Amino acid sequence: MTNTVAVAREIRGLDPAWLRDNCQCSDCRDPVSGQRLISITDQAREVTVTTTVGAADGLHVTFGPDGHQTVFTRTWLAGQAAPAVDDRTEDAKELWCATEFPAGPPSVTWRDYLARDKVRLASLRQLLSAGFMLLRGVPAKPGAVLEVAKTLGYVRETNYGRLFDVRVVATPANLAFTGLPIGPHTDNPYRDPVPTLQLLHCLVNAADGGESGLLDGFRAAAMLRAEDPVAFACLARTPVTFGYSDASTELHATRPMIGLDPAGRIREIRYNSRSMQPMRPRLGAAADQAADEMREFYLAYRAFASVVLRPGLTMRFSLEPGDCVVFDNTRVLHSRTGFGASGSRHLQGCYADIDGAESAVALLARNRRRATVGA
Ligand code: FE2
Repeated sequence: MTNTVAVAREIRGLDPAWLRDNCQCSDCRDPVSGQRLISITDQAREVTVTTTVGAADGLHVTFGPDGHQTVFTRTWLAGQAAPAVDDRTEDAKELWCATEFPAGPPSVTWRDYLARDKVRLASLRQLLSAGFMLLRGVPAKPGAVLEVAKTLGYVRETNYGRLFDVRVVATPANLAFTGLPIGPHTDNPYRDPVPTLQLLHCLVNAADGGESGLLDGFRAAAMLRAEDPVAFACLARTPVTFGYSDASTELHATRPMIGLDPAGRIREIRYNSRSMQPMRPRLGAAADQAADEMREFYLAYRAFASVVLRPGLTMRFSLEPGDCVVFDNTRVLHSRTGFGASGSRHLQGCYADIDGAESAVALLARNRRRATVGA
């Protein structure tokens, strides 16, 4: 029977063009893949809903002007009500500072992580929400970091290889391969896109020093926004070029240090003083204007750096052999204190991507739901 009032309430707020574009029938969607078979230009400019009929199997809808008929299940319609949130922005994250982790980063054992879906799901969810996870007891043997990467997606191979060694070398192409202290930074800002996850696995740590640090860059940027909104806006709009060059590689990428989504929410941090290139004047800016803009940028950069270095933001801990830390390289800044020549320190690292970790979480959650329903 026709139930126009109730049905109208059911699809209130849904535009007829949206309903037509999201028709779930087998003419409009491939039944196997679920992918859309129709194009937006296949529908009329002025789509209308001419009739709606509530029935046991859902809402029967007839569209005008083409007369196309379809059924939307109520479950499907209800599932479309949640607001769209970009999982990569601050809106989907839990921002933190080091004082919230007085005992250091929470960790799980590699054995539990592998053996128990519940542990793996919780760890990967923490990686997505807090931006890091720490596994302990990963075999301290070369290449094991790639086994960790396999559990959360795919290795992002770069000019450094599938994995890279972080240890002191005689002629370092990167300051990471010295015993010098390395301040908070994100890796590889000279790539486009940057690797979105980084893994660091400790094989040996007998050096004096070399303590690791993690810092929530979103939290630091949010603090800057609250304290100095002019500086925040400057860093969000000013393109900065980062570069890397060695005998076989020449890379550069130009992006703001603080990347925002279209709604102005924090989405990405690129912060690395080692690879930041000389600032250039803005295209079309007169000399005086360019000098003013440069001055404003440097004040803003300095203000952000001051927040980043503020005590209480960086979570410090010592990586022991078998520890593998995984973090969001578009958000979490990592650092290390310097270490001496006595005793060696050897980490192996690799890059991977957040979409793989998100997929792993979704699959684990889906399997656990099915197991619960089937129990
Ligand atoms: Fe690094």
